[in-house]
Amino acid sequence: MIFKENRYMLFVVFYVLKEEFMSVATDELIRKAENTHCLSKEEIVKLLALPDEICPSLFAAADRVRALHAGNDVHLRGLIEFSNYCKNNCCYCGIRRDNNKLRRYRMMPETIIASARKAAECGYKTVVLQSGEDAFYTIERLQQIIREIKKYNLAVTLSIGEKSFDEYKAYKEAGADRYLLRIETTDKELYHRLDPGMSWDNRKRCLDDLKKLGYETGSGFMVGLPAQSLASLAEDILFLKRLDVDMAGIGPFIPHPDTPLKDVEGKAFFLSLKTTAVTRLLLPDINIPATTAMEALHPQGRIMALQCGANVIMPNVTDLERCRLYKLYPGKPLPSFSIEEGRKETEALVRSIGRRVGAGYGFRSKKNQ
Ligand code: 5AD
Repeated sequence: MIFKENRYMLFVVFYVLKEEFMSVATDELIRKAENTHCLSKEEIVKLLALPDEICPSLFAAADRVRALHAGNDVHLRGLIEFSNYCKNNCCYCGIRRDNNKLRRYRMMPETIIASARKAAECGYKTVVLQSGEDAFYTIERLQQIIREIKKYNLAVTLSIGEKSFDEYKAYKEAGADRYLLRIETTDKELYHRLDPGMSWDNRKRCLDDLKKLGYETGSGFMVGLPAQSLASLAEDILFLKRLDVDMAGIGPFIPHPDTPLKDVEGKAFFLSLKTTAVTRLLLPDINIPATTAMEALHPQGRIMALQCGANVIMPNVTDLERCRLYKLYPGKPLPSFSIEEGRKETEALVRSIGRRVGAGYGFRSKKNQ
């Protein structure tokens, strides 16, 4: 009996010591990331695998790094989703070519320009023009749209997919400042399975071209894709660091009912927060949006992301009807009644966590204002 009790005590002591040792090792790892902004793939995996109760110290470190290197301003970008036509057929995406349940729309150049003007009047300093890959918008049409929008003293971000070097160059010459193109995953095998007919190498070529042309370049990936490991996510973060991106968009994969991935379990909310935090620790001065997909999975999703390393919000300034049709995944939060109201609500949200809305263009902090 006494022997049995001793054995039990020994087990408890061993367990407590092991937990203590793990927590010291984790604190050490977080400190290393906070101070050096460098971690190996294995170290990143350890952070991504942290149990929920340890995460607050990871999130707090990411928040400190964000404050120190990117400041307290939250930059707002007005998002205009101008066409949901897409020639691609990505298995995860609701606006994929083969989704014939979706009603398609395309905004005319004058309407896009009017939306940008409205966003400028409401105080936005940047508009993001996003669409599926839609050949209706020829180089000339897009150049014209960009030139007109630049007259409102807005920074222009494009998020319109894979193009040739010359096309990217034409948009840059017309005045585009930034470009967003997520790599989606750095696991090439997974990429080719999920993005049939597309080439990972071409996507990487696009990102290289954008950097060469002097765009502020944003990339990013989804978290919780089928068969995506923590090691693969660690590779994704290291890819962003190697590329020295200026912006990183990270969001949970959310299965869409009208896509081939409809039955996949995809609720990686917490893992997305951890991934955001580690990305901030490794890329201290970049812009990181609190993505809409975070809000789709959790009512406080965007606020939580802002407190785990994010410093940008992209309120939707597309009208309600079109916004509904630009449905990449279910549960997308819809914009407020009007752009003015949406702006006010977002400003209040930012203030509620003791942060400020940025008054400048919000370029990567080194070059800010
Ligand atoms: N869940 C989450 N994010 C998605 N995206 C596309 N489909 C989904 C989905 N089902 C993301 C992709 C794309 C960005 C515009 O939206 O990462 O690059």
